[in-house]
Amino acid sequence: MSELLLKLECVTAGYAEDIDVLSEVSLTVNRGEVSGLIGLNGAGKSTVVKTICGFLTPKSGSIEFMGEAIAGIAPHQLIDRGISYIPQESSLFPYLTVEENLLLPLQSRPKKFAHLIKERYEEVLDAFPVIRQRRSTQAGDLSGGQQKQVEFAKAWLQLPSLCLIDEPSIGLSPIMAEEVFVWIEKFSRAGMGILLIDHNVRRVVRMSDQVNVLSLGRITASGQREDFQGDLHEQVRQWLGLDF
Ligand SMILES: Nc1ncnc2c1ncn2[C@@H]1O[C@H](COP(=O)(O)OP(=O)(O)OP(=O)(O)O)[C@@H](O)[C@H]1O
Ligand SMILES: [Mg+2]
Repeated sequence: MSELLLKLECVTAGYAEDIDVLSEVSLTVNRGEVSGLIGLNGAGKSTVVKTICGFLTPKSGSIEFMGEAIAGIAPHQLIDRGISYIPQESSLFPYLTVEENLLLPLQSRPKKFAHLIKERYEEVLDAFPVIRQRRSTQAGDLSGGQQKQVEFAKAWLQLPSLCLIDEPSIGLSPIMAEEVFVWIEKFSRAGMGILLIDHNVRRVVRMSDQVNVLSLGRITASGQREDFQGDLHEQVRQWLGLDF
């Protein structure tokens, strides 16, 4: 039986008081599983993750992580609770070094995690040679692909139970994009729950255990991967311009 990690129920949210971008969004992420969130540009996908991460407070509805209400809790506190976020845009401080960017979010971690974090830091240096070579470089001097590696390394070091990953392959070379999906699989195998957003719909469907379709801020279809695979869900076929 899958363990429920994240549960959004009827979440309504937006950037302005009188305009709702999300209307009654419900979705779940289980431990060790990938939940995909797909939708056209402007559908509200990034707004869903920003609301989970505490950048926006829902106007109504509930967000529970491991059975506790988390709506409106500040992003840095959510990191300590086990939620990491790899945003669509860079989250690195360009004038800090790579190493400072990696270690800054870990400062409030209790001492008991120090050993585990040190182990993971060694892993990160092996997994991402660019970090070993350029740990003293300002993050803003790295290429887009290198910065994405630092983002994944940063999330891995935070020991999250849940990782929210928004458009990880956007703007990357095909080779680097492939690599990104290998890391996501690694995160998943390590037991994390993942909420994955990517414009490569087929890829998201292939990687996901559950798939959610967002249209104009509403969930218009959701189900298991099998419901979306093969001939693909009709709604998804329509976006991709596939005729029967
Ligand atoms: N900071 C903001 N202030 C006001 N409106 C915003 C803000 N960010 C996004 N929006 C609006 O909210 C809606 C949903 O945007 P969002 O970025 O969540 O969509 P998305 O599905 O992630 O799109 P994309 O595929 O282009 O990343 C859009 O109409 C957008 O213009
Ligand atoms: Mg987006």
